[in-house]
Amino acid sequence: MPDVAWYNRFYIAVEQSPAYAVYCEQVFGCNLAQQGFSDTAQLELMLNEINVKSGERMLDVGCGNGRMLEYLCDRTGAQGEGFDASAVAIAQAQKRTVPKAERLLFVTGLLDEQVYPAASFDVVIAVDSLYFSLNLPQTLRKLCWWLKPGGRLAVFYSPFRFSSEEPASGLEADDTLPARSLQAMGVPYRYIDCTDSHIALMKRKRITAAALRERFAAEGNLNLYENAYTEAVDVGLSPETFRAFSRRYLYLVSQ
Ligand SMILES: C[S@@+](CC[C@H](N)C(=O)[O-])C[C@H]1O[C@@H](n2cnc3c(N)ncnc32)[C@H](O)[C@@H]1O
Repeated sequence: MPDVAWYNRFYIAVEQSPAYAVYCEQVFGCNLAQQGFSDTAQLELMLNEINVKSGERMLDVGCGNGRMLEYLCDRTGAQGEGFDASAVAIAQAQKRTVPKAERLLFVTGLLDEQVYPAASFDVVIAVDSLYFSLNLPQTLRKLCWWLKPGGRLAVFYSPFRFSSEEPASGLEADDTLPARSLQAMGVPYRYIDCTDSHIALMKRKRITAAALRERFAAEGNLNLYENAYTEAVDVGLSPETFRAFSRRYLYLVSQ
């Protein structure tokens, strides 16, 4: 799992990489400097489920350089707030969104340490960030606590195992770490299995990274290529084999 220093280097590199912008547009449908796995179709699915209204307060937990939150707030008219462990990413978000500072706020913060008063937000989203919590049950408890009455929580999460030697438990939707944490808290949730579209995205990552390799090399950004290429999967991988190692879920909680 990458650490914060890794993410600082990543966000410095992507900010000045035209090849990564093209990569994101081709893989995800738009360039939000994604290092996660949510394309525009998954973001639309999430928006439909959480029904964000203009003026509502939305928190993005692990927001990276804030492009995704900015996109979601521009789409919905919501007031956005995001935090991320990468001070580099947050500085980029703050600088880029100065003209939108009345409705977008970004701060450096850690999943395990960030605090807000109870009932601060109408919507909390965590897109591929909860892997980094050192205490996921406690973090999820906070996310729920930060929701106003009627508030909605959306979590994109992809459980995975690296090898067939690792136990296969933890892959089914009700058996993942977030699901078990919510169950232990007695918080009702529902989920949408996004694994099929996720498999297509993981293959698209491989094809697109390979096609852009020379452009990454010419920029001196082969590290971005290598990361994108190796986290993807072979185009010929069967859905059954993929599902034996990973899944993708959108978890939804309503207060
Ligand atoms: C996989 S990226 C996802 C970023 C973005 N949400 C997306 O979907 O593109 C994970 C993000 O979590 C951040 N992160 C890592 N550890 C964290 C922590 N302990 N607390 C808060 N954010 C963390 C990283 O800096 C990175 O921006």
